[in-house]
Amino acid sequence: MAIIDDEGVSNQSENEHFQDVLDARLSRRGFLTGGFATAAAVSLGGVEALLKAVPASAQETEEADDTEVRIDGRRPLIGFESVPVSSADDVVVPKGYTAEVLIAWGDPVSNGPAFKHDASNSAADQARQWGMHNDGLVYFPIVGSQRGLIVQNNEYTDDGLLFPDGVNNWTQEKTNKSLNAHGVSIIEVTKRTGFPWDWKRRRGKWDVVRPSPFARRITGRTPVEIGGPAAGDPRLMTSGDPTGRRVLGTLNNCAMGFTPWGTYLACEENFNGYFRKNGAQTNLEKRYGITAAGFGYLWHTTDKRFRVDEEPNEPNRFGWVVEIDPFRPHSTPVKRTALGRLKHEGAWVQEARNGKIVVYMGDDERNEYIYRYVSNLPWRQARAQGINPLDDGILYVAKFHADGVGEWLPLTTDNPRLAGWSLNDILINTRGAADAAGATMMDRPEWIDTFPKELTAIATLTNNSRRGTTPPSINNPDGTTSAGSARPPVDAANPRAVNNYGHIVRWYYRQDWTEPTFGWDIFSLAGDPANPAHGSTIFGDKYGSPDGIYVDRSGLIWIQTDVSTSTINAGAYSGFGNNVMVVAHPETRETRRFLVGPNQCEVTGVFMTPDRRTMFVGIQHPGERPDDQPGDPLNPKQFSSWPDGPNGGRPRSALIVVTKDDGGRIGS
Ligand code: FEO
Ligand code: CA
Ligand code: CA
Repeated sequence: MAIIDDEGVSNQSENEHFQDVLDARLSRRGFLTGGFATAAAVSLGGVEALLKAVPASAQETEEADDTEVRIDGRRPLIGFESVPVSSADDVVVPKGYTAEVLIAWGDPVSNGPAFKHDASNSAADQARQWGMHNDGLVYFPIVGSQRGLIVQNNEYTDDGLLFPDGVNNWTQEKTNKSLNAHGVSIIEVTKRTGFPWDWKRRRGKWDVVRPSPFARRITGRTPVEIGGPAAGDPRLMTSGDPTGRRVLGTLNNCAMGFTPWGTYLACEENFNGYFRKNGAQTNLEKRYGITAAGFGYLWHTTDKRFRVDEEPNEPNRFGWVVEIDPFRPHSTPVKRTALGRLKHEGAWVQEARNGKIVVYMGDDERNEYIYRYVSNLPWRQARAQGINPLDDGILYVAKFHADGVGEWLPLTTDNPRLAGWSLNDILINTRGAADAAGATMMDRPEWIDTFPKELTAIATLTNNSRRGTTPPSINNPDGTTSAGSARPPVDAANPRAVNNYGHIVRWYYRQDWTEPTFGWDIFSLAGDPANPAHGSTIFGDKYGSPDGIYVDRSGLIWIQTDVSTSTINAGAYSGFGNNVMVVAHPETRETRRFLVGPNQCEVTGVFMTPDRRTMFVGIQHPGERPDDQPGDPLNPKQFSSWPDGPNGGRPRSALIVVTKDDGGRIGS
């Protein structure tokens, strides 16, 4: 079995509990302002007034002491001493910083069953425990930078490590546990304030709040609503759901986003790998990679949903962006179909100056595309009319021209290149529509972030082994190409043949984020700048296979790498050590290595508290086998025993907290 190689309004469901809404907002409001304002808001205007009164967005929550200006004022500072390349089975951070594990796979999200180090927890236990292989994450403040919710995706599982006997003797219980280890995990966290008089303890310490009314698991079995234009389309109907409006679970959630109205966006990436199709592939199945072999998961042996020959429409119900309201623990997540169906890496939301929202999304596979969604209405106006801004908008795909200009090609029924396509054709077969529209094939688009004031976006392109090879081929405009099989020539935005190290591209606007055209440039070509053969343009510490990218509020760019486990410190990556997180200066482009992960891990998922004094980082799949096979249950610690060390039974993905010992800002 091959492990995956990455080569409010949301809650209009009928089971919404009024009391949940009230409880959540009351508790937040209570923390923020004390009880009086809450009571007044409720008595004057009810829940709606309360919702309006409480800015829910992490983006909107300003810290009173955050007086630093962004890059259009004083320059941000990189103040730490770079850490060396490491192959240690540990997290390495600079002198003066501390990294601690906050929660790891199998730990309870609230009061719940403890992790058993022999992996003998049941499927029911797993549904109350932190999922496996955590990825993109967001911190939602309750009390600024002191108390909040963390929502983190659980992208996939290593079923060899998930059970005492690995993938042997497969049962429905095993399918259920594997499904329950996928999805999204929500915890409440709080900081024990530091001691200002003692520099060693000034940084404070973070704990998971147990029990917490917000703690929640959303798994591969949680009921999820299908919303937006494609809801109810016949292609989304199955024997289990004749309405095409309700699906069980969300799968392979990689990166993420969050909205100005306080919800979280989980993005379904390599959903295809769980399904098996033995009969002839349809063009749609080819284009999304639904195959007989899948990624080796055995769910299909016990669950008909994953046997495409029997349930041909089930795969169409995955590959979406899922909206979750973390402050309403009984709310139903919603798949937002207007954002298109692809192997969604992330969904970064940027509010435009005209009040509309723009969502940037990468489709992570070789020679796939970068997308933009623009809401039709300013988001506040849409919500005031009862419209979710993610349900009503226009999807575009990027074309990068060689002269440094680019354009957003609309994926709409009036685009002449999409003559004969209905809107739902476009949304369900978004890849095919983008092929027909003539988008630029990219070197595996991963995360995207923005510099809000500079009207600039930045995206990682992790690597591509199929560009510049022969014979050349493209994604056919009729949408008949098998996923990842094209071999395009180099172009201006993807200038390297056999791009082992990846690169980072930026684009920018004149007046607003909704403009139809943009200027673009390449921020860096990755690789080792000391090795001329790599052609790297990095100034400072080397890195390759950039994946996670996060622009902090000072403008510093945090870059996380995902060198695949088969290549870590080997081949083209010999001398690179384990996967890392570096920081790059937006102007000088100076790059320094900030964190190195344990053996065989990927560093993915990063978010800071508003005061930038705490950074949350995801460590994914430590100890994964280099041959991409499931972990060996007889020797689970063969490649790593992080984070539990000799006392633990197996390596575990985990969320870590990085703080500066003097309580200062991260990176300073
Ligand atoms: Fe799941 Fe594209 O990384
Ligand atoms: Ca990746
Ligand atoms: Ca990723």
